[in-house]
Amino acid sequence: MKTLQRTFSIIKPDAVKKGATGDILHMLEHAGFHIIGMKMLEITKEQAEGFYAVHVNRPFFASLTSFMSSGPIVALALEKENAIADLRKLMGATDPAKAEAGTVRKKHAASIEANAIHGSDAEDTARFELSYFFAGYELAK
Ligand code: RTP
Ligand code: MG
Repeated sequence: MKTLQRTFSIIKPDAVKKGATGDILHMLEHAGFHIIGMKMLEITKEQAEGFYAVHVNRPFFASLTSFMSSGPIVALALEKENAIADLRKLMGATDPAKAEAGTVRKKHAASIEANAIHGSDAEDTARFELSYFFAGYELAK
């Protein structure tokens, strides 16, 4: 039996700013992801800190949270079989210099920080991240 899985993604400020939103949505849909929730918004530095709390002790935390609150982002709830792992594959490596051809980061990321897209890395983080940005009633059935 096929089991659908949900994951959470963000089109990051660098990609929205350069006009890559449509192309990234196309890449996601082309890869079989169903968009079941989507909103464009700007988050505060405090909201970015809450979202990336797992990275609080990393040297890049201050810079990352400033970057993520620097402009509009697109928050996405996605559904697909094996969604979490498949999204990570489609995103490509964190550092675009190491990202494989055909990945979102290879095509759109500018640097290891301004790297176009976020994707949840496990089931528990996907649940937390979906609930951080979406109420249950905002997701398509
Ligand atoms: P993400 O969480 O955004 O999906 O990215 P990821 O799993 O590939 O990478 P992660 O290690 O979770 O790092 C989160 C985000 O922090 C920024 N970063 N900057 N300056 C640096 O060395 C550095 N390392 C990571 C990136 O925006 C990365 O996506
Ligand atoms: Mg991560």
